[in-house]
Amino acid sequence: MLPKLVTDLVAWIDKRIPMTDSFNKHVGQYPAPKNFNFWYFFGSLAMLVLVNQILTGIWLTMNYTPSGEEAFASVEYIMRDVEYGWLLRYMHSSGASAFFVVVYLHMLRGMMYGSYQKPRELLWLFGMFIFLVLMAEGFMGYLLPWGNMSFWGAQVIISLFGAIPIIGDDLTLWIRGDYVISGATLNRFFALHVIALPLVLVILVFLHIVALHEVGSNNPEGIDIKKPKGSIAEEDKAPFKFHKSYTDKYDIVDAVPFHPYYSVKDIMGVVGFLIIFCYVIFFAPEGGGYFLEKPNFEPANPLKTPEHIAPVWYFGPFYTILRIIPDKLIGAGAMFGAIVMLFLLPWFDRGTVKSLRYRSTLHKINLVQFCICFFVLGVLGTMSASPLANAIGVAATVGYFGYFIALFIYSKNEKTKELPERISH
Ligand code: HEM
Repeated sequence: MLPKLVTDLVAWIDKRIPMTDSFNKHVGQYPAPKNFNFWYFFGSLAMLVLVNQILTGIWLTMNYTPSGEEAFASVEYIMRDVEYGWLLRYMHSSGASAFFVVVYLHMLRGMMYGSYQKPRELLWLFGMFIFLVLMAEGFMGYLLPWGNMSFWGAQVIISLFGAIPIIGDDLTLWIRGDYVISGATLNRFFALHVIALPLVLVILVFLHIVALHEVGSNNPEGIDIKKPKGSIAEEDKAPFKFHKSYTDKYDIVDAVPFHPYYSVKDIMGVVGFLIIFCYVIFFAPEGGGYFLEKPNFEPANPLKTPEHIAPVWYFGPFYTILRIIPDKLIGAGAMFGAIVMLFLLPWFDRGTVKSLRYRSTLHKINLVQFCICFFVLGVLGTMSASPLANAIGVAATVGYFGYFIALFIYSKNEKTKELPERISH
């Protein structure tokens, strides 16, 4: 039992804000399907990485100087002289890559189990906005060490805006805040990376969870745990106490309270993640040149273009789509379109069966080919361009967009397996 002082304090707070009630509604008595599997680790892991990025970012900011003259040296200072500065930096730079690994797997889970379908469209859209902000955050953060790849990577991406007719030149000038990428650009990217975008990110993650808890979690079977009120016999209902905001509206089956069942299970995911993450930080912090690229160990130099300019791996798929199209404007449009397709996924999929387990073989093949194309596009994005790489890139781009178009066509009258009434495994 808790000491009286603590219970009195909780009662005092509860009279003023609904602390215990909110905890029960969203954690202690939140009905979570009983069959969450491995793929359901990545939401909580994304939160863990977000906290890691914010905390290590705050400490890095204490010793980093956002000016063209001092940025590179200040990062070296953090690495060599600040106590545990190297650890903070590696946690942050490897954390950025970990973020994208986790989020890509989290999105794939959503695609496998149809978690974007009705009624979770808005949840998916919030997720996509998170993804967009995350990409902006990664891009701006990458300029901050003011290494040579930081400089040239930003040069390539910002110059894309120049391809937009009429306003292009003015727009690039506005983004850079100068005629070339300079300390002024670095300074504004710093402000956006350190305060504006993280703030937006945290707000979006909050809305993401609000949207999730309003409609409830999906699961690997894609079968709802909420049944119409009065349709389930008392002995068939899940034998737990759930918050009345759920049980007033529905009968709940095949569910467990999020805490302690999944709060404990998620710890297992966290331990697995930390083993890999710590291995990277302590034994391979440069990620074989993929997390911290070689040219970035030289200061930014407008007179020296790196041999081949490659974005960090997580932009690879989109960068390849941009690069294989010779016309800059069409290329940028296709790259943008690739992200728009993901936004519109809930409307491309006209099916009603959610999980891959009950969908047609055609759908399974389509999703597998999409994953292969996405992976291939990613690998190509980190390599130098060549005629062969371009040809493969074109094929993979067709496969990428083909996924959505094919899905739209076959999903309306798809031959699916019969759905069980209840979650079966
Ligand atoms: C900072 C990034 C993100 C965080 C912290 C986050 C967090 C979470 C958490 C904690 C859950 C519930 C646990 C789980 O189902 O795994 C969840 C569910 C979900 N998220 Fe995210 N998420 C992020 C990004 C995204 C993105 C980019 C998308 C897709 C565009 C997305 C789509 C979904 C969907 C569809 C669900 C419901 C899954 C289901 O019930 O089957 N999330 N998210």
